[in-house]
Amino acid sequence: MNILKFSNGDNLPLMGLGTWLSKPNEVYNAVIEAIKCGYRHIDCAYIYGNEKEIGDALRFAFTNGLVKREEIFITSKLWNSDHAPERVGISMRKSLNDLQLDYLDLYLMHWPVAFKTGHEQAKTANDLASLDEIPLELTWNAMVEMKNLGLTKHVGVSNFNIAKLNKLSADSGIKPEVNQVELHPYFQQNELVEYCHSNEILVTAYSPLGSRHLIKTDEGIQLEKSIQEIAAKHKCSETQVMLAWGMQRNTSVIPKSVNSSRIIENLEAMSVQLDADDMHQISKLERGQRMAKGLYVVLPGGYYTYEGIWEK
Ligand SMILES: NC(=O)c1ccc[n+]([C@@H]2O[C@H](COP(=O)([O-])OP(=O)(O)OC[C@H]3O[C@@H](n4cnc5c(N)ncnc54)[C@H](OP(=O)(O)O)[C@@H]3O)[C@@H](O)[C@H]2O)c1
Repeated sequence: MNILKFSNGDNLPLMGLGTWLSKPNEVYNAVIEAIKCGYRHIDCAYIYGNEKEIGDALRFAFTNGLVKREEIFITSKLWNSDHAPERVGISMRKSLNDLQLDYLDLYLMHWPVAFKTGHEQAKTANDLASLDEIPLELTWNAMVEMKNLGLTKHVGVSNFNIAKLNKLSADSGIKPEVNQVELHPYFQQNELVEYCHSNEILVTAYSPLGSRHLIKTDEGIQLEKSIQEIAAKHKCSETQVMLAWGMQRNTSVIPKSVNSSRIIENLEAMSVQLDADDMHQISKLERGQRMAKGLYVVLPGGYYTYEGIWEK
Protein backbone atom coordinates (compact mmCIF):
# COMPACT_ATOMS: atom_id res chain seq x y z
CA MET A 1 0.00 0.00 0.00
CA ASN A 2 1.44 3.39 -0.87
CA ILE A 3 -1.45 5.63 0.14
CA LEU A 4 -3.63 6.53 3.08
CA LYS A 5 -7.33 7.14 2.37
CA PHE A 6 -9.46 10.06 3.45
CA SER A 7 -13.06 9.26 4.36
CA ASN A 8 -14.26 10.62 0.99
CA GLY A 9 -11.90 8.24 -0.84
CA ASP A 10 -9.19 10.80 -1.67
CA ASN A 11 -5.58 9.60 -1.41
CA LEU A 12 -2.78 10.87 0.84
CA PRO A 13 0.47 9.49 -0.62
CA LEU A 14 2.55 7.79 2.07
CA MET A 15 5.79 9.40 0.89
CA GLY A 16 6.16 13.16 0.58
CA LEU A 17 8.94 15.69 0.24
CA GLY A 18 9.54 18.00 3.23
CA THR A 19 10.60 21.58 2.48
CA TRP A 20 11.41 23.20 5.85
CA LEU A 21 14.86 24.80 5.70
CA SER A 22 15.13 24.06 1.98
CA LYS A 23 16.66 27.30 0.79
CA PRO A 24 14.72 29.12 -1.93
CA ASN A 25 17.58 28.60 -4.41
CA GLU A 26 17.67 24.85 -3.62
CA VAL A 27 14.01 23.98 -3.26
CA TYR A 28 13.16 24.66 -6.93
CA ASN A 29 15.45 21.86 -8.13
CA ALA A 30 14.53 19.60 -5.21
CA VAL A 31 10.81 19.74 -6.07
CA ILE A 32 11.44 19.11 -9.78
CA GLU A 33 13.82 16.23 -9.00
CA ALA A 34 11.29 14.76 -6.58
CA ILE A 35 8.44 14.93 -9.08
CA LYS A 36 10.64 13.45 -11.84
CA CYS A 37 11.55 10.45 -9.72
CA GLY A 38 7.97 9.81 -8.59
CA TYR A 39 7.04 11.86 -5.49
CA ARG A 40 3.38 12.88 -5.57
CA HIS A 41 3.20 14.72 -2.24
CA ILE A 42 4.95 17.97 -1.26
CA ASP A 43 4.75 19.39 2.27
CA CYS A 44 4.90 23.20 2.35
CA ALA A 45 4.17 26.01 4.80
CA TYR A 46 3.86 29.78 4.61
CA ILE A 47 6.50 30.20 7.34
CA TYR A 48 9.13 28.19 5.44
CA GLY A 49 9.55 31.26 3.21
CA ASN A 50 9.98 29.25 0.02
CA GLU A 51 6.46 28.75 -1.36
CA LYS A 52 7.16 31.10 -4.32
CA GLU A 53 10.03 28.93 -5.52
CA ILE A 54 7.99 25.78 -4.95
CA GLY A 55 5.21 27.41 -7.00
CA ASP A 56 7.68 28.07 -9.84
CA ALA A 57 8.78 24.43 -9.72
CA LEU A 58 5.16 23.21 -9.74
CA ARG A 59 4.32 25.46 -12.71
CA PHE A 60 7.37 24.04 -14.55
CA ALA A 61 6.24 20.50 -13.74
CA PHE A 62 2.66 21.14 -14.92
CA THR A 63 3.56 23.01 -18.10
CA ASN A 64 6.19 20.45 -19.10
CA GLY A 65 3.90 17.49 -18.50
CA LEU A 66 5.90 15.98 -15.60
CA VAL A 67 2.70 15.63 -13.60
CA LYS A 68 -0.89 16.87 -13.70
CA ARG A 69 -2.26 19.01 -10.88
CA GLU A 70 -4.77 16.33 -9.89
CA GLU A 71 -1.99 13.74 -9.60
CA ILE A 72 0.01 15.53 -6.87
CA PHE A 73 -0.90 16.23 -3.24
CA ILE A 74 0.11 19.67 -1.95
CA THR A 75 -0.07 20.69 1.71
CA SER A 76 0.40 24.15 3.18
CA LYS A 77 0.04 25.48 6.72
CA LEU A 78 -1.51 28.47 8.45
CA TRP A 79 1.04 30.35 10.54
CA ASN A 80 0.48 31.42 14.15
CA SER A 81 0.19 35.13 13.30
CA ASP A 82 -2.83 34.48 11.05
CA HIS A 83 -5.11 32.71 13.52
CA ALA A 84 -7.62 35.58 13.67
CA PRO A 85 -10.59 34.24 11.66
CA GLU A 86 -10.60 37.20 9.28
CA ARG A 87 -6.91 36.51 8.48
CA VAL A 88 -7.31 32.84 7.55
CA GLY A 89 -8.61 33.39 4.00
CA ILE A 90 -6.04 36.14 3.34
CA SER A 91 -3.19 33.93 4.51
CA MET A 92 -4.39 30.91 2.61
CA ARG A 93 -4.81 32.89 -0.62
CA LYS A 94 -1.23 34.16 -0.20
CA SER A 95 0.01 30.55 -0.06
CA LEU A 96 -2.18 29.62 -3.06
CA ASN A 97 -0.88 32.62 -4.99
CA ASP A 98 2.77 31.84 -4.18
CA LEU A 99 2.30 28.16 -4.99
CA GLN A 100 0.46 29.17 -8.21
CA LEU A 101 -2.41 26.83 -7.39
CA ASP A 102 -6.21 27.13 -7.50
CA TYR A 103 -6.62 24.78 -4.54
CA LEU A 104 -4.60 22.95 -1.90
CA ASP A 105 -5.07 19.27 -1.10
CA LEU A 106 -4.54 19.90 2.60
CA TYR A 107 -4.40 23.02 4.76
CA LEU A 108 -3.09 22.54 8.31
CA MET A 109 -3.14 24.73 11.40
CA HIS A 110 0.63 24.72 11.96
CA TRP A 111 0.67 25.01 15.78
CA PRO A 112 -1.97 25.18 18.55
CA VAL A 113 -0.75 28.66 19.56
CA ALA A 114 -1.53 32.18 18.35
CA PHE A 115 0.51 35.34 17.80
CA LYS A 116 -0.90 38.83 17.41
CA THR A 117 -1.76 39.63 13.81
CA GLY A 118 1.26 41.07 12.01
CA HIS A 119 3.76 39.58 14.49
CA GLU A 120 5.25 36.79 12.42
CA GLN A 121 7.94 36.05 15.00
CA ALA A 122 7.28 36.26 18.72
CA LYS A 123 10.24 37.98 20.36
CA THR A 124 8.46 38.92 23.59
CA ALA A 125 5.20 37.98 25.31
CA ASN A 126 3.65 41.11 23.78
CA ASP A 127 3.77 39.43 20.38
CA LEU A 128 1.64 36.51 21.57
CA ALA A 129 -2.15 36.22 21.58
CA SER A 130 -3.80 34.00 24.17
CA LEU A 131 -6.20 31.21 23.24
CA ASP A 132 -8.90 33.16 25.11
CA GLU A 133 -8.38 36.03 22.67
CA ILE A 134 -8.26 33.78 19.58
CA PRO A 135 -9.68 30.35 20.47
CA LEU A 136 -8.41 27.51 18.29
CA GLU A 137 -11.96 26.57 17.27
CA LEU A 138 -12.55 30.02 15.73
CA THR A 139 -9.43 29.62 13.61
CA TRP A 140 -10.50 26.08 12.81
CA ASN A 141 -14.01 27.12 11.76
CA ALA A 142 -12.47 29.65 9.37
CA MET A 143 -10.27 26.89 7.92
CA VAL A 144 -13.29 24.63 7.46
CA GLU A 145 -14.93 27.52 5.58
CA MET A 146 -11.94 27.47 3.18
CA LYS A 147 -12.74 23.83 2.50
CA ASN A 148 -16.41 24.69 1.93
CA LEU A 149 -15.29 27.33 -0.59
CA GLY A 150 -13.27 24.69 -2.48
CA LEU A 151 -9.90 26.33 -1.75
CA THR A 152 -8.62 23.18 -0.07
CA LYS A 153 -9.81 19.59 -0.38
CA HIS A 154 -8.99 18.72 3.23
CA VAL A 155 -8.22 20.48 6.51
CA GLY A 156 -6.20 19.34 9.46
CA VAL A 157 -3.89 20.34 12.27
CA SER A 158 -0.30 19.91 13.32
CA ASN A 159 1.38 19.54 16.70
CA PHE A 160 -1.93 18.68 18.41
CA ASN A 161 -2.05 16.24 21.33
CA ILE A 162 -5.04 14.04 22.19
CA ALA A 163 -6.64 16.57 24.55
CA LYS A 164 -6.43 19.33 21.97
CA LEU A 165 -7.81 17.09 19.21
CA ASN A 166 -10.73 16.14 21.47
CA LYS A 167 -11.44 19.73 22.46
CA LEU A 168 -11.28 21.05 18.89
CA SER A 169 -13.63 18.33 17.64
CA ALA A 170 -16.05 18.89 20.55
CA ASP A 171 -16.03 22.70 20.34
CA SER A 172 -16.44 22.91 16.57
CA GLY A 173 -18.24 19.64 15.81
CA ILE A 174 -15.77 19.03 12.97
CA LYS A 175 -12.85 16.72 13.46
CA PRO A 176 -9.46 17.37 11.81
CA GLU A 177 -8.79 15.03 8.89
CA VAL A 178 -5.01 14.92 9.48
CA ASN A 179 -2.66 15.50 12.41
CA GLN A 180 0.94 16.16 11.38
CA VAL A 181 3.33 15.50 14.27
CA GLU A 182 6.96 14.64 14.99
CA LEU A 183 7.51 10.87 14.72
CA HIS A 184 10.74 8.88 14.44
CA PRO A 185 12.22 5.86 16.23
CA TYR A 186 13.39 8.02 19.17
CA PHE A 187 9.92 9.64 19.49
CA GLN A 188 7.19 7.20 18.56
CA GLN A 189 4.08 8.71 20.24
CA ASN A 190 2.22 5.39 20.09
CA GLU A 191 -0.77 6.57 22.12
CA LEU A 192 -1.32 9.61 19.90
CA VAL A 193 -0.93 7.60 16.69
CA GLU A 194 -3.38 4.96 17.94
CA TYR A 195 -5.86 7.62 19.04
CA CYS A 196 -5.73 9.27 15.61
CA HIS A 197 -6.13 5.98 13.77
CA SER A 198 -9.08 4.90 15.88
CA ASN A 199 -10.73 8.31 15.29
CA GLU A 200 -10.15 8.27 11.53
CA ILE A 201 -7.58 11.06 11.66
CA LEU A 202 -4.74 10.41 9.20
CA VAL A 203 -1.25 10.90 10.62
CA THR A 204 1.74 12.45 8.91
CA ALA A 205 5.17 11.95 10.48
CA TYR A 206 7.36 15.04 10.36
CA SER A 207 11.10 14.84 11.00
CA PRO A 208 10.93 11.10 10.18
CA LEU A 209 14.73 10.92 10.19
CA GLY A 210 14.97 12.77 13.50
CA SER A 211 15.56 16.11 11.75
CA ARG A 212 18.95 17.62 10.97
CA HIS A 213 20.02 17.67 14.62
CA LEU A 214 19.96 13.89 14.74
CA ILE A 215 20.63 12.67 11.22
CA LYS A 216 23.59 14.98 10.61
CA THR A 217 25.37 14.28 13.88
CA ASP A 218 26.90 11.36 15.73
CA GLU A 219 23.69 11.22 17.80
CA GLY A 220 21.93 9.95 14.67
CA ILE A 221 19.33 7.19 14.83
CA GLN A 222 21.01 5.65 11.76
CA LEU A 223 23.93 4.71 14.03
CA GLU A 224 21.78 2.45 16.19
CA LYS A 225 23.05 -1.15 15.97
CA SER A 226 19.57 -2.57 15.39
CA ILE A 227 18.86 -0.10 12.55
CA GLN A 228 22.19 -1.01 10.96
CA GLU A 229 21.47 -4.73 11.26
CA ILE A 230 18.01 -4.34 9.75
CA ALA A 231 19.48 -2.27 6.89
CA ALA A 232 22.11 -4.96 6.22
CA LYS A 233 19.42 -7.66 6.31
CA HIS A 234 17.27 -5.86 3.72
CA LYS A 235 20.26 -4.54 1.70
CA CYS A 236 19.03 -0.98 2.06
CA SER A 237 20.21 2.16 3.84
CA GLU A 238 19.54 3.01 7.49
CA THR A 239 17.46 6.02 6.50
CA GLN A 240 15.32 3.77 4.30
CA VAL A 241 14.72 1.55 7.34
CA MET A 242 13.46 4.56 9.34
CA LEU A 243 11.15 5.67 6.54
CA ALA A 244 9.84 2.14 5.91
CA TRP A 245 9.12 1.84 9.63
CA GLY A 246 7.08 5.08 9.52
CA MET A 247 5.11 3.96 6.48
CA GLN A 248 4.45 0.51 7.95
CA ARG A 249 2.89 2.22 10.96
CA ASN A 250 0.39 3.70 8.48
CA THR A 251 1.78 7.18 8.85
CA SER A 252 2.80 9.23 5.83
CA VAL A 253 6.42 10.37 6.00
CA ILE A 254 7.79 13.64 4.63
CA PRO A 255 11.61 13.53 4.73
CA LYS A 256 13.25 16.78 3.67
CA SER A 257 16.16 16.75 1.30
CA VAL A 258 17.61 19.08 -1.31
CA ASN A 259 20.09 16.47 -2.51
CA SER A 260 19.09 14.49 -5.64
CA SER A 261 20.54 11.17 -4.60
CA ARG A 262 19.02 11.39 -1.10
CA ILE A 263 15.64 12.41 -2.58
CA ILE A 264 15.72 9.20 -4.67
CA GLU A 265 17.06 7.09 -1.79
CA ASN A 266 14.21 8.25 0.43
CA LEU A 267 11.54 7.47 -2.18
CA GLU A 268 12.99 4.00 -2.67
CA ALA A 269 12.22 3.24 0.97
CA MET A 270 8.76 2.43 -0.38
CA SER A 271 10.03 -0.89 -1.65
CA VAL A 272 11.54 -1.92 1.72
CA GLN A 273 9.32 -4.43 3.58
CA LEU A 274 10.15 -4.77 7.27
CA ASP A 275 9.02 -7.88 9.12
CA ALA A 276 7.41 -8.09 12.56
CA ASP A 277 10.76 -8.64 14.26
CA ASP A 278 12.26 -5.55 12.56
CA MET A 279 9.26 -3.48 13.71
CA HIS A 280 9.66 -4.85 17.23
CA GLN A 281 13.39 -4.06 17.33
CA ILE A 282 12.72 -0.49 16.22
CA SER A 283 9.90 -0.09 18.77
CA LYS A 284 12.54 -0.68 21.48
CA LEU A 285 14.46 2.46 20.41
CA GLU A 286 11.82 4.79 21.89
CA ARG A 287 13.36 7.36 24.23
CA GLY A 288 10.85 10.21 24.32
CA GLN A 289 13.26 12.45 22.46
CA ARG A 290 11.16 15.29 21.08
CA MET A 291 13.21 17.52 18.79
CA ALA A 292 10.63 20.23 17.95
CA LYS A 293 9.76 21.42 21.46
CA GLY A 294 7.94 24.61 20.50
CA LEU A 295 10.08 26.62 22.93
CA TYR A 296 9.97 29.56 20.54
CA VAL A 297 6.52 30.37 22.01
CA VAL A 298 7.51 29.85 25.65
CA LEU A 299 8.40 33.45 26.56
CA PRO A 300 8.71 35.16 29.96
CA GLY A 301 5.30 36.48 31.03
CA GLY A 302 3.61 34.77 28.05
CA TYR A 303 0.62 32.46 27.83
CA TYR A 304 2.34 29.30 26.64
CA THR A 305 4.32 26.67 28.54
CA TYR A 306 5.93 23.43 27.38
CA GLU A 307 3.40 21.44 29.44
CA GLY A 308 0.52 23.50 28.09
CA ILE A 309 1.50 22.84 24.48
CA TRP A 310 2.21 19.13 24.74
CA GLU A 311 0.69 17.67 27.88
CA LYS A 312 -2.55 19.47 28.71
N1 LIG B 1 4.36 20.64 11.18
C1 LIG B 1 5.47 21.00 11.76
O1 LIG B 1 5.49 21.71 12.77
C2 LIG B 1 6.78 20.52 11.17
C3 LIG B 1 7.94 20.59 11.93
C4 LIG B 1 9.12 20.10 11.37
C5 LIG B 1 9.11 19.59 10.09
N2 LIG B 1 7.96 19.57 9.34
C6 LIG B 1 7.93 19.05 7.95
O2 LIG B 1 8.57 17.77 7.94
C7 LIG B 1 9.65 17.78 7.03
C8 LIG B 1 10.73 16.83 7.47
O3 LIG B 1 11.21 17.14 8.75
P1 LIG B 1 12.66 17.77 9.00
O4 LIG B 1 13.06 18.59 7.84
O5 LIG B 1 12.60 18.42 10.33
O6 LIG B 1 13.59 16.50 9.20
P2 LIG B 1 13.97 15.13 8.47
O7 LIG B 1 13.27 15.02 7.18
O8 LIG B 1 13.83 14.08 9.49
O9 LIG B 1 15.53 15.34 8.24
C9 LIG B 1 16.00 16.29 7.32
C10 LIG B 1 17.53 16.21 7.33
O10 LIG B 1 17.95 14.93 6.89
C11 LIG B 1 18.85 15.04 5.80
N3 LIG B 1 18.56 13.89 4.96
C12 LIG B 1 17.45 13.68 4.19
N4 LIG B 1 17.51 12.49 3.59
C13 LIG B 1 18.67 11.89 3.99
C14 LIG B 1 19.29 10.64 3.71
N5 LIG B 1 18.72 9.77 2.91
N6 LIG B 1 20.50 10.38 4.30
C15 LIG B 1 21.07 11.28 5.13
N7 LIG B 1 20.53 12.49 5.42
C16 LIG B 1 19.34 12.78 4.87
C17 LIG B 1 18.54 16.37 5.18
O11 LIG B 1 19.67 16.94 4.55
P3 LIG B 1 19.78 17.22 2.95
O12 LIG B 1 18.70 18.18 2.57
O13 LIG B 1 21.14 17.80 2.80
O14 LIG B 1 19.64 15.87 2.28
C18 LIG B 1 18.15 17.21 6.40
O15 LIG B 1 19.28 17.73 7.05
C19 LIG B 1 10.05 19.27 7.01
O16 LIG B 1 10.90 19.58 5.94
C20 LIG B 1 8.71 19.92 6.97
O17 LIG B 1 8.16 19.86 5.65
C21 LIG B 1 6.78 20.01 9.89
